[in-house]
Amino acid sequence: MTASPVGRDIDRVDGRLKVTGTAPYSGDYPAPNTAHAHVITSTIGRGTITRIDTAAALASPGVLRVYAAPDPRLKLYPVANEYRAFTENYLPLKDSTVHFHGQVIAMVVAETFEQARDAAALVTATYDAQKPRTSLKDEPRVPSGRTVSGSPSDSKMLAPGVDSIDAALAASDVVVKATYEQPIQNHVAMEPHAVLAVWHGGHLTVHAGAQIPYAYAILLAQRLDILPQDVTLITKYVGGGFGARVVLWSDAPLAAAAARDMDRPVKLILTREQMFTLTGHRSHLTQTIRLGASRDGVLNAISHDSVAEMPTTINFPMTPAHSTSDTLYRTPNLSVDAKMVMLDLPGSRAMRAPNEAPGLFALETAMDELAVATGVDPVELRLRNYATVKPTTGLPWSSKHLDDCYRIGAERFGWSKRSAKPRARVDGQWLIGAGMASAVYPATRHPASVRIRLLDDDTAVVSTAISDLGTGGWTMVAIAGADALGIPLKRVTPEIGDSKLPQGAPAVASSATHSTVPLVIGAARNAIAELKRLAVTSPDSPWHGANAEDLRYEDGSLHGDGRSMSFGRLLAAVGSRGLNGTASAPGGAPAEYSYHSFGAHFCEVRVNRFTCEIRVTRFTTVADIGRVINARAARSQLVGGVVFGIGHALLEHNHLELDTGRLASSNMADYMVPVNADIPDIDVHLLDRPDPQLTGPLGDDGGEVGTRSLGARGLGEIGTSGSAAAVGNAVFNATGIRVRDLPITLDKLL
Ligand code: MOS
Repeated sequence: MTASPVGRDIDRVDGRLKVTGTAPYSGDYPAPNTAHAHVITSTIGRGTITRIDTAAALASPGVLRVYAAPDPRLKLYPVANEYRAFTENYLPLKDSTVHFHGQVIAMVVAETFEQARDAAALVTATYDAQKPRTSLKDEPRVPSGRTVSGSPSDSKMLAPGVDSIDAALAASDVVVKATYEQPIQNHVAMEPHAVLAVWHGGHLTVHAGAQIPYAYAILLAQRLDILPQDVTLITKYVGGGFGARVVLWSDAPLAAAAARDMDRPVKLILTREQMFTLTGHRSHLTQTIRLGASRDGVLNAISHDSVAEMPTTINFPMTPAHSTSDTLYRTPNLSVDAKMVMLDLPGSRAMRAPNEAPGLFALETAMDELAVATGVDPVELRLRNYATVKPTTGLPWSSKHLDDCYRIGAERFGWSKRSAKPRARVDGQWLIGAGMASAVYPATRHPASVRIRLLDDDTAVVSTAISDLGTGGWTMVAIAGADALGIPLKRVTPEIGDSKLPQGAPAVASSATHSTVPLVIGAARNAIAELKRLAVTSPDSPWHGANAEDLRYEDGSLHGDGRSMSFGRLLAAVGSRGLNGTASAPGGAPAEYSYHSFGAHFCEVRVNRFTCEIRVTRFTTVADIGRVINARAARSQLVGGVVFGIGHALLEHNHLELDTGRLASSNMADYMVPVNADIPDIDVHLLDRPDPQLTGPLGDDGGEVGTRSLGARGLGEIGTSGSAAAVGNAVFNATGIRVRDLPITLDKLL
């Protein structure tokens, strides 16, 4: 038997290319005669451009074109298809309206990047400025439109005889009420957003980072008024997505339209500064939580309201209470509500567990406050309120071992040594505190297609148009292919990141692995069936005329009638270069279950008694993510997610100037994310228990490879979900100070 690579500690198949700097990212691709574009952005938050002076830029060396709003040469069109939520609702450089500070108002194209950037500095604009709407306190507030599934009313679930959530809270022995604020945060992927647009006749090839390659290609085609089949998107290597590469922003349409207008390839690489306003951010957010409980901490009511921004240029309603407060705990009374305020701000977007990270910061901090109010240990409090069915639907989980995450995490971390009393543990100048929080993230299976090609050299190519954001997608596809075919990993070639491949699962919502793996298995099964058919129908096959049912496939070979032959040798014998098996599925999973991944975070901090400096000194995360496909990649994803959580809690903050609508931070020195010196060793433990439902039934192997489901479930965002609350709860335990407005900076502890 060939040992399956599933669940082992596997090097990434693209690792060598990446560490040697030879993996080509979007901006690295060359094209003959490429022209270089540089965009110029608005310096007001709302209003109208009255004049743009391009004369000096046009006279500058190497300049080929200066496009300035309104510019009729670009020929961009609105999008009206089902994917329109994945793009903006205005057209760049189409008219003179300024919707936000940092919007594209002009673009210089020159022979070199430096010439374009130099000339861009010579472009001047005058405006008729209006005061932008920027505050979450502004009106009107619009509902998110998202409801609690299975609930008798839109956003409430009340026990029989209870009139309102307020009444339920009033009837509770203990009530905790708190408001949590967080500022605007940015995705800050390492790789800048870069686009190379090349036309060959009427066909456009675009190199750009995209999380949903097929949707990106369709949206771009509609922007340019061409057919989807006339766009090929290449997105092979991507330096981070985090939600910012879900959207077709202004950059690709501008580059592609300019390339069409100029009849030569155009490359547009946004500067780091421009990415802060042109590629999305996480909305600033206010959340109010009210928990009602008995004296021993058993919940009677949960109320979770939020107000977030809705920029006028894109539709992304934030609903942080959904899949957090409406999911995590057993409660007879529940009310969740998400409101948005339409503001003149740069486009916001899903960012790193978009609703779950902020939602769980609020809920899991409030639970810590309830633990303090009732005197119940935080882990015990969560076990007392443990849900075995999703409260709003009554549906059991496909697989849930969160209780084991709490217990194993507490054991690994040494939770029993914690003092419930704040400021009780001191080491010299340092106050030591420990806090914990839960993680929950929904698991959704998305539509996907996979093609497997068996070749006459005994290798196999597994193809699907997913995008690897740095998350391990290349390797996941290879592992799943090797497992399904029973051949060594090195004989499998993954092929991803090209919109012309079979439609891949979106690289969003921690779902690509569990959406893809079952289709790899299905494609392998179909390829093997085709191999058997070839074996019994080809005159040059040793099994010509036999029954396909009498042949057995195992470990890359067919066996029957006392002989064996590898698929490569059989293909060569019958004169075939290769054969295909494909599989597709519409997504979804059996409706009788709830699907989530779970986890528990435990954090230790040290806070300096004199300077109030906060150091995270230990962190343990135990995750329940179904079957582990690649232990190394899974651990890395969890560690990365926890690092996000630490940044969320302690560092990340883009200050919004309310008067101007300007985001104050525009580089990675001002916008702080954790660096290695901020991060301790992070202890990650994966339960590795297969989910028997999300990816289909288990245990029906039948002696044939390719018929097992692996039971994987999403893990990408579970490390980010809840980890910020664990940090904040540890800070409270160290200091006795509850900081409810993020980030928790030392000035708030003075
Ligand atoms: Mo994500 S924030 O689901 O790209």
